[in-house]
Amino acid sequence: MSPLCAPLPVLISLLFASVTAKATISPWPEGDGAALLAFKEKLDDGGGTALLSWNQSSHFCTWQGVTCGRRHLERVTAINLTAAGLTGQISPSIGNLSFLRSIFLNNNSLHGGIPSSIGHLRRLRFLVLRFNSLGEEIPLELVNCSELTIINLHGNRFVGSVPPWLGSFKRLTSLYLSNNSLTGVIPTSLANASSLEVLALHYNHIEGVIPEVLGRLARLRTLNLGVNNLTGTIPTSLYNLTSLQGLGMAVNHLSGELPADFGSKFRNLRKLLLSSNKFSGPFPSSITNCSDLENFELASNNFSGRLPPNMGRLAKLTWFIIFGNHFEAQTANDWDFLASLTNCSNLESVYLQSNNFGGSLPHLVANLSEKLQNLCVSDNLISGSIPPGIGNLAALQRFVLSYNNFIGDIPEGIGRLRHLRVLVLDDNSLSGHIPPTLGNLTLLLILNASLNALRGMHNSSHTWTPATPNLFIIVQQFSRRCHTERSCRLTLSVTGH
Ligand SMILES: *[C@@H]1O[C@H](CO)[C@@H](O)[C@H](O)[C@H]1NC(C)=O
Ligand SMILES: *[C@@H]1O[C@H](CO)[C@@H](O)[C@H](O)[C@H]1NC(C)=O
Ligand SMILES: *[C@@H]1O[C@H](CO)[C@@H](O)[C@H](O)[C@H]1NC(C)=O
Ligand SMILES: *[C@@H]1O[C@H](CO)[C@@H](O)[C@H](O)[C@H]1NC(C)=O
Ligand SMILES: *[C@@H]1O[C@H](CO)[C@@H](O)[C@H](O)[C@H]1NC(C)=O
Ligand SMILES: *[C@@H]1O[C@H](CO)[C@@H](O)[C@H](O)[C@H]1NC(C)=O
Ligand SMILES: *[C@@H]1O[C@H](CO)[C@@H](O)[C@H](O)[C@H]1NC(C)=O
Ligand SMILES: *[C@@H]1O[C@H](CO)[C@@H](O)[C@H](O)[C@H]1NC(C)=O
Ligand SMILES: *[C@@H]1O[C@H](CO)[C@@H](O)[C@H](O)[C@H]1NC(C)=O
Ligand SMILES: *[C@@H]1O[C@H](CO)[C@@H](O)[C@H](O)[C@H]1NC(C)=O
Ligand SMILES: *[C@@H]1O[C@H](CO)[C@@H](O)[C@H](O)[C@H]1NC(C)=O
Ligand SMILES: *[C@@H]1O[C@H](CO)[C@@H](O)[C@H](O)[C@H]1NC(C)=O
Repeated sequence: MSPLCAPLPVLISLLFASVTAKATISPWPEGDGAALLAFKEKLDDGGGTALLSWNQSSHFCTWQGVTCGRRHLERVTAINLTAAGLTGQISPSIGNLSFLRSIFLNNNSLHGGIPSSIGHLRRLRFLVLRFNSLGEEIPLELVNCSELTIINLHGNRFVGSVPPWLGSFKRLTSLYLSNNSLTGVIPTSLANASSLEVLALHYNHIEGVIPEVLGRLARLRTLNLGVNNLTGTIPTSLYNLTSLQGLGMAVNHLSGELPADFGSKFRNLRKLLLSSNKFSGPFPSSITNCSDLENFELASNNFSGRLPPNMGRLAKLTWFIIFGNHFEAQTANDWDFLASLTNCSNLESVYLQSNNFGGSLPHLVANLSEKLQNLCVSDNLISGSIPPGIGNLAALQRFVLSYNNFIGDIPEGIGRLRHLRVLVLDDNSLSGHIPPTLGNLTLLLILNASLNALRGMHNSSHTWTPATPNLFIIVQQFSRRCHTERSCRLTLSVTGH
């Protein structure tokens, strides 16, 4: 067999045999081997094993995390040192590895900048540096890496503005610049990166308006602009982005009303994150057409009116977070949205607090998902009793009713909520006894029942201050002793009047 027809490992060992024959000098005085050794010099694996194999006892193509070409045997095509415990910097010598197609250095602790020599890597497709401490500006020379398909710089310290030339990358499908310190505005030129499927700019300091032209990015599946300083409205052109699965705009200064056909445009939506803005008006009932919706998060806006009665059509909902708005309910029908959520078997969190919900809480909430962990309805105008079947919500960890007008007893069934950690009932008109079944809640950390008309614990051997309307009770915990004692007892600290 001619050596040239041999499979790669054989060839590499043959090549290697010939170079090691040349005694102690580096077998790779130049070329990719030399560039890799120079690259290694700027790195430290903290005594780990990541770079252990990077020495002259074996060919560089066999080093951990290094891949060479099939046709160009001495040329490195990929470096993958994901989560390798590396500190140090990215050496400019990386620019000598001109056959590189992939750089995966994510989940390390690299600092410094991206060397400008990266502009020599004309074949580069994947640049994945997320979760490091890299900084400085994104180098202009990167503009010459025109084959780039994925750029992921999430979770670093890059500064400067979002480079306008990113719009020239025709093959770019994913651009993650999120969780950095970028400033300036969103460049309109990004609209020219017509292959983009993911545009993630969240967690930066970007200001200005959302450019109308982004509506041209017809392939976008994820658009996350959250936690920036954006102003203005959602441009109508964005409603052309019918493939969107994730729309993140939370924590900005965006305003305006949403169009009535909002939900009919985004039929594929899974995550809708609009919290902490200044959106106003009613929430469009067309949202019930988004049958894949999982996260519905509108908290801290100025939405008003009633919620669509058939919210429960969104059968995959997990998070229903609408607190801090002006949503209202008066009649039983106005609460249909909540009753219909009993269709949503994955529901984990329902946060309705700080709205204008009045009337009584439908007793059907006891039939919400058995996965429900958080139910908060505080700071509304709700009257009537606590749903007696509440003990059915076996996964409930947080149940918060404060600042309403609930009347009647605390249902015995609450004692069945084995995972309950927080029970906050204060500032209502509850009466009767604190049910002794609460003693079964060994995970409970906080019970606040103050500002009610409760009368302490029925049939209890505990002595405590007779309840007054101003009794402030916090059961800090059912005592660490619960680990050792079979029967856990309430440890009460009773203060105030
Ligand atoms: C990188 O390439 C330049 C120019 O070809 C050369 O001068 C330099 O020695 C190379 N560096 C390494 C570490 O191979
Ligand atoms: C060199 O790499 C080999 C693996 O190829 C490794 O077993 C050896 O410990 C390394 N030597 C040094 C000095 O790091
Ligand atoms: C990179 O290496 C890690 C760990 O060895 C591996 O899990 C991952 O799949 C690799 N990534 C690529 C793109 O090859
Ligand atoms: C990278 O770090 C992130 C955040 O700490 C973590 O979620 C992810 O699983 C890590 N990935 C790898 C491959 O270690
Ligand atoms: C990109 O490549 C072109 C052609 O080689 C070169 O003239 C230009 O200076 C490069 N641009 C940058 C910013 O490196
Ligand atoms: C942002 O990045 C920093 C540093 O890598 C990390 O500590 C933090 O958890 C990240 N935050 C998010 C939301 O990814
Ligand atoms: C997008 O590309 C076209 C054609 O190359 C160019 O004329 C236009 O100015 C670019 N748009 C922006 C906003 O950069
Ligand atoms: C938004 O701008 C204000 C005022 O300039 C600043 O205090 C705040 O930190 C900025 N927020 C973000 C997320 O950049
Ligand atoms: C996108 O939206 C704008 C404004 O709503 C509209 O004028 C334009 O025709 C739409 N373009 C496409 C391709 O649907
Ligand atoms: C979308 O929802 C609205 C309001 O619920 C409804 O009237 C409309 O028929 C739905 N459209 C489609 C296309 O399903
Ligand atoms: C919120 O909406 C109400 C009407 O529902 C309006 O009177 C009020 O001015 C709005 N507040 C803000 C800050 O936009
Ligand atoms: C719950 O507590 C009550 C009253 O303290 C007790 O009678 C009952 O046996 C307990 N139930 C369970 C399942 O532990």
